[in-house]
Amino acid sequence: MAHDEIVDHCSALARSALSGQRIAGCDPVAVAELRAGETVLDLGSGGGIDVLLSARRVGPHGTVFALDASPAMVELAQRNAEQAGVANVRFLHGTIEAIPLPGHTVDVVISNCVINLSADKAAVLGEAFRVLQPGGRFGVSDVLTAHALDEQARQRAEQRIGCAAGSLTVQEYRDLLAAAGFVAVTITLTADHGDGVHSAIVQAVKPAIGPGLEIRPMREGDAAEVLGIYQAGLDTGQASFETTAPSWEGFSASRLPHLRYVATDSDSGEVLGWVAASAVSSRPVYAGVVEHSVYVHPGCQAHGIGRALLAAFIAAAEDAGVWTIQSGVFPENAASLSLHQALGFRVVGTRERIGCHHGLWRDVLLIERRSALSGT
Ligand SMILES: C[S@@+](CC[C@H](N)C(=O)[O-])C[C@H]1O[C@@H](n2cnc3c(N)ncnc32)[C@H](O)[C@@H]1O
Repeated sequence: MAHDEIVDHCSALARSALSGQRIAGCDPVAVAELRAGETVLDLGSGGGIDVLLSARRVGPHGTVFALDASPAMVELAQRNAEQAGVANVRFLHGTIEAIPLPGHTVDVVISNCVINLSADKAAVLGEAFRVLQPGGRFGVSDVLTAHALDEQARQRAEQRIGCAAGSLTVQEYRDLLAAAGFVAVTITLTADHGDGVHSAIVQAVKPAIGPGLEIRPMREGDAAEVLGIYQAGLDTGQASFETTAPSWEGFSASRLPHLRYVATDSDSGEVLGWVAASAVSSRPVYAGVVEHSVYVHPGCQAHGIGRALLAAFIAAAEDAGVWTIQSGVFPENAASLSLHQALGFRVVGTRERIGCHHGLWRDVLLIERRSALSGT
């Protein structure tokens, strides 16, 4: 069946009583820019229109997982796939809050007008993050509100288009994506359904890193490993004027909670490096200026972990509205300097003999990266 025929065939079925309605302007397959050979997961696949379109797009070397909580919808999607002669689809019965797939299984998560229906959207986004490969893409269509709605406006919208009862605001969606670990978040409002309710395209990325590794938000349970890596870095004498890592309470109190990430071994979960940032000032004019540190386990250097952590951190910081990231680097720390310069930092100047370290007065290079995306 040709692409247009699949669209016609499935559109008719998707609009049947079983499948719920597609809202104009939603096209997660196009949004996710699927490529041949990719593995795709459709959250709440319904009658399967996006599954069939995706299956054709990824081709015989790709796979599409179709997940739906309704057995009737799974059966309908299966029949549609059979009629369309599409073989590279796997049908899953289950919920999007507890996706029945192992971690790091898919390249792309798509979904059309489903996530807004969930009572636990944090769980859905956390699960999407878990099943994606590092570097994997999240590209969904959903219903969002531009601002918080009062109950009457929400009910009016629900009667007009459905799918509005549980919709998040743009900022709430951004915050949940960031908390799950996604970066490079873009939310584009498309069709306007009135009362501040919109169809929207939501795109985000799971931070990329080398094989067998993963980047995710730092948790309290990482404390011992994070501080151990910190201390190992301080012990080199080239990372900081500090000589002793702080307590977790001290570390945590001075770092911004939404801008802390760890790199881990995907199999063992061992923390191999971390990045975190502090606000530089309480003055509103500097609200988008932070100072960061990045540390990699001494046994894991030169594997691209620091670079991946720093790249993820920059993307997350820009998502959060940070416009300048700054830090101090000892001139002798050539590896750190070249890593930062490769990711857009420049040397602002040298702070001469600014501090005494183990009896020696040392210079510090002040480096900063001005965002071209945030604060423009
Ligand atoms: C509005 S339809 C959208 C179907 C399809 N994405 C489309 O665009 O045609 C919503 C679908 O999501 C499924 N669904 C709703 N909540 C779900 C959940 N928590 N877990 C899995 N599927 C869910 C429903 O069974 C239904 O098939």
